[in-house]
Amino acid sequence: MVTLIFIGIIGLLVGFLVLVAIYDLVQSKHTILRNFPVIGHLRYILEGIGPELRQYIVTNNNQERPFNRDERSWVYASSKKENNYYGFGTDNAIENELNYLIIKHSAFPHSPPPRGPEELPTIACSKVWGAARGRAKAFRPESTIYISAMSYGSLSAPAVEALNKGAAMAHCMHNSGEGSVTPHHGHGGDIMWQIGTGYFGCRDEEGRFNLEKLKEVIARYPVRAIEIKLSQGAKPGHGGVLPAGKITEEIAAIRGIPMGVDCVSPSSHREFTNVDEMLDFVEMIAQATGLPVGIKSAVGQMDFWQELAEKMVDGKRGVDFIVIDGGEGGTGAAPLAFSDHVSYPFKTGFPRVYREFAIRGIADNVVFVGSGKLGFPQSALLAHALGCDMISVAREALLAIGCIQAQRCQTNKCPAGITTQNKWLMRGLDPQHKSVRFANYALNLQYEIMELANACGVPHPSLVTLDHFDILGEDFSARSARDAFGYEPGWALPPQAEQERLWAEGKGFQAKARAKSKAALSAAE
Ligand SMILES: Cc1cc2nc3c(=O)[nH]c(=O)nc-3n(C[C@H](O)[C@H](O)[C@H](O)COP(=O)(O)O)c2cc1C
Repeated sequence: MVTLIFIGIIGLLVGFLVLVAIYDLVQSKHTILRNFPVIGHLRYILEGIGPELRQYIVTNNNQERPFNRDERSWVYASSKKENNYYGFGTDNAIENELNYLIIKHSAFPHSPPPRGPEELPTIACSKVWGAARGRAKAFRPESTIYISAMSYGSLSAPAVEALNKGAAMAHCMHNSGEGSVTPHHGHGGDIMWQIGTGYFGCRDEEGRFNLEKLKEVIARYPVRAIEIKLSQGAKPGHGGVLPAGKITEEIAAIRGIPMGVDCVSPSSHREFTNVDEMLDFVEMIAQATGLPVGIKSAVGQMDFWQELAEKMVDGKRGVDFIVIDGGEGGTGAAPLAFSDHVSYPFKTGFPRVYREFAIRGIADNVVFVGSGKLGFPQSALLAHALGCDMISVAREALLAIGCIQAQRCQTNKCPAGITTQNKWLMRGLDPQHKSVRFANYALNLQYEIMELANACGVPHPSLVTLDHFDILGEDFSARSARDAFGYEPGWALPPQAEQERLWAEGKGFQAKARAKSKAALSAAE
């Protein structure tokens, strides 16, 4: 009898676990459960009681890197439209932390006109891309946030699809990364095409740049701008790396590379080897396509930037935009020494570059973009105050679509199906669900950036300057951020006419875009 009861209980248990496994496999909301049926629940249970456990035995809310728990939880909650507020006050040691930034609010915050029920927040860029150089396809991005370069190859097909669909819903651009524009980028999101040293998607048999191929791709996809990659913060001076294990037949065909060996693109460009040649290359592409053309780089030796700014003063040639990536930036795969030690962090590197353009009076002619853990309201606001017109986000976007910071991007074993080409792991990522998550995150981020800007008393984040920030120091002192960064009054603001327009309008959000986004989000949910 006892044996029968025992067998019965075991049978029920097994039956229950089989039902759970079937449910996990069929549902499409949670990637981890689809990829790891039944045992995946352990993660959610541990996640639920993790804060209490960690509080005593492992880490506090601010210890983990690259993104601490507070940061990850904020992205997760924002992307799921859950409560992303925190109670009981800050747990940061405000008075003990080095370089702690304080945003100085106004006694009279800016109150924007009320938003309609259909309106969602996207903040339009305060500069028109390509306008200063009269590009035929100059445009004003509807969203100051966009998805930073991450190639198909380093990312899975469903991840790229989710990001592209999310970009369409949130009206933000999606940077292709150096692996070329692919069919997975063709889901409605505007594309920024990144051209790296491998010229993937626009190269000839010998691996040299081919303008005709570039034009063919541009004719097929909604490419809004071309970004020439000089370097990225996690591995400047190293070139791209796609480990052999992640190269499928499709990726090999798209890139025009062999299978079975790591795809390592050269550390520097073959089409230009100095600033003059680079500017000629930029102008050649801009004239042939009509698109704004810019560069992405981390910051190391400054002679390059000084020469670039100097050569742009006469207005004959120039880049339309400059993306500065901080040394703290992410990557699919890189040598540790490069990630840890090569190039300045964003807050050191960006101001050095901006200064070269500001002192020559040509900062208005360039759109500045920042990246490097800037996908949070307070860091994005500081980036605006330093002179960024736009913010690009990579890993924060991945967190929004389900990344759990497993830090296995280089192994092809990403448990969230994002940085892998493993069919089983990819299957868990439902692009439809995750696209909405990304869109929610991007819209919420802009909403909170705007709330901070309004608290400072201005109607648009581009009007926030370093005078709105202080840095706490020893003996309870507070130092002006403008002094600390060595900025002159008036730096980092948009062109005068644009400032006047933003003040006159009084609301930085884009009503029309928001109505469209709202409809797209409802349809997808
Ligand atoms: C998986 C992955 C792949 C990336 N691939 C590229 C790339 O192809 N080209 C590039 O310029 N940067 C690449 N990056 C760097 C990001 O575009 C971005 O500059 C950097 O991660 C900083 O932004 P974040 O702090 O918001 O992640 C990649 C980053 C990640 C995480």
